[in-house]
Amino acid sequence: MRILGIETSCDETALALIDGQDDKLTVEKSVVLSQVKEHEKYGGVVPEVAARKHLEAIFPMLEHEVPRTGDGIDVIAVTSGPGLAPALRTGVEVAKTLAWIWDKPLLGVSHLEGHIYANWLQHEGLKELPVFPALCLIVSGGHTELVVMRGHGQFQRVGETLDDASGEAFDKVAKMLELPYPGGPHIAKLAQGGDVRAFDFPRGLIERKDFNFSFSGLKTSVLYTLRKNESRLQDESFRRNIAASFQEAVVDVLVKKTMRAAESLKPSSIVLAGGVAANVELRHRLAEATENVGIPVFIPPLMFSTDNAAMIAAAGYYRAQKEDNFVDPLTLAADPNMDIA
Ligand code: KG4
Ligand code: ZN
Repeated sequence: MRILGIETSCDETALALIDGQDDKLTVEKSVVLSQVKEHEKYGGVVPEVAARKHLEAIFPMLEHEVPRTGDGIDVIAVTSGPGLAPALRTGVEVAKTLAWIWDKPLLGVSHLEGHIYANWLQHEGLKELPVFPALCLIVSGGHTELVVMRGHGQFQRVGETLDDASGEAFDKVAKMLELPYPGGPHIAKLAQGGDVRAFDFPRGLIERKDFNFSFSGLKTSVLYTLRKNESRLQDESFRRNIAASFQEAVVDVLVKKTMRAAESLKPSSIVLAGGVAANVELRHRLAEATENVGIPVFIPPLMFSTDNAAMIAAAGYYRAQKEDNFVDPLTLAADPNMDIA
């Protein structure tokens, strides 16, 4: 089965074609056009600008990547939520139009489910697939959640952030340091060579037994530290230490809470998902922690960690395998607040 994936939930216009045979999902094409340069000047994503840019980009991309007749495509999977409403709508409307013209089944997919399914895409390092129940740590710009996946399409949220998402914390701290949007990769780069112990930033809810997160206290603490040290804001080693100590606090909380959830819920595998999964420190620390307790961990390759459409096609593929009536109607509407569980 060949699936066309379409993703426009935020500031990346993405298309992909994947071929699914049993549990083997081969990425035939995956193109991502980032609008980062467009939003950089505003310090964040402007939804209406994102929508306009998606519309400008998507038809040339389709023309280039996909047969005009839709030949060889069996299903169209599109991100229908969560995300920015005007941005989501562009992808959903394009997908509906194609489904109607080509007379192909349409499938609205959760963006977060897509991030999880990035771990099912074939790549060089993939030896086996995640085993259920899988404990999934979702870390993106808008979400930080722990979700138990008991089977394909079966998700149960066991923890979530009570305020900011981890990616949002990276982006906000980057802004404080006058680094460009999105801040995650810039903070990660600045943190290299910094002292993780230079500042003892708070680890939100670390002592609590539940699996929820909080990053707003950490963000505020960084802000106060910067205000107290205004004269050092341009001092490179001070900036490195702030970035390193901040990143350490985020990674500490994410890894500790995940491992605590694993201890209690006894999953057969652990899965990392979402844009913050591109953070090298988080990847290393989670791999180390899971190895210590002997639970297999799955971390998507960098290109499938941040937003892409191959992961959306993958989520669509499994829904098409599992459910008899998987097809969404052509009245499908974008749902900016779509829940995974
Ligand atoms: O999943 P994603 O690409 O888009 C959303 O669904 O939100 O995630 C974007 C988030 C941004 O907050 C970005 O700063 C963060 O992922 N991010 C990173 C890194 N690369 C992207 N955060 C930390 N370290 C990184 N290397
Ligand atoms: Zn995402």
